[in-house]
Amino acid sequence: MKISSIPRDLLCVSLLALCVSGANAAEKITLKLAHNLDRSHVVHQAFEEMAKEVQQLSKGDMRIRIYPSSQMGSARETLELLQNGALDMTKGSASDLESFDNTYAIYNLPYLFKDQQHFNRVVFGEVGKEIMDSTKDKGFFAISAYVAGTRSFYAKKPIMKPEDLKGLKIRVQASPTTIKMVELMGGSPTPISFGEVYTAMQQGVVDGAENNIPSWVQTRHIEIAKVLSEDEHTSIPDFLVISTKTWNKLTPNQQQILMKAAKDSEVYQQKQWEKVDADSRAQAKEMGATIVSVDKAPFRAAVKPLYDDFAKDPKQAALLAKFEAAAK
Ligand code: GCU
Repeated sequence: MKISSIPRDLLCVSLLALCVSGANAAEKITLKLAHNLDRSHVVHQAFEEMAKEVQQLSKGDMRIRIYPSSQMGSARETLELLQNGALDMTKGSASDLESFDNTYAIYNLPYLFKDQQHFNRVVFGEVGKEIMDSTKDKGFFAISAYVAGTRSFYAKKPIMKPEDLKGLKIRVQASPTTIKMVELMGGSPTPISFGEVYTAMQQGVVDGAENNIPSWVQTRHIEIAKVLSEDEHTSIPDFLVISTKTWNKLTPNQQQILMKAAKDSEVYQQKQWEKVDADSRAQAKEMGATIVSVDKAPFRAAVKPLYDDFAKDPKQAALLAKFEAAAK
């Protein structure tokens, strides 16, 4: 049939339909999110909630496919994939992010927060947002943040004072500030990616590690390192990080949808955290492990030089002043 023989109105309608469906097809998008946490981790569950909300709000035009458990590599590797444009989103703890941009170093300072309210005011407040936005020129930035309790040392024996760390190889995240912290306390810091810690502990490559209680239990590190000494040296948030390239590719409407779902996932995760922490403590007890309380004063004193270093750097000092202001 020749085009000229098709009624003009019908032709217009069909062309319009073609254009509209073409436009819709171009707007459909699937974002890949890879991270190093297990499916049972509350941050993974928060990501699943976010993916559901994104799909709902976009009426199916926008989807998030999640690859948990280091399927696409360690935190460092997924952050590199993000920078190369090979991945859209990942989870980075402030420790992982510090080696990409030292603005994140501050979150790795020990005994930084007065209490949970102080942490929340910083991380979910203005200064927190400033840090999250600060890395756009590095190819990524954070769009939401998650609480991650407090981190303490665990090993086969109690660590009651800094001297007990002497001669112990302690697994740490790849954060220069954490490495320095363990050195100042007297231990030997050994950076290893999260997914490889269990084997490293089993083979005696390290004598212990440090993490929050849910991670100690969920990773089964607890089976090998049965004593957690609750010195609570750090409170390091996790972040959902997006590639700047991916963000710029989204329409304003898609950006809005993603942002809303990401913010809602923060609320979801915060609500779950306390329960997860309490359940993990109970589980630790059932497994015959021990949580010992520790006098924090000598640990605090040992890390003072870290704060002196921060005070010497005007950019870090300014940031620290904002953190301190939020304590009041
Ligand atoms: C915590 C944190 C993770 C991090 C892990 C680690 O569990 O929530 O984001 O990867 O510690 O020690 O590597």
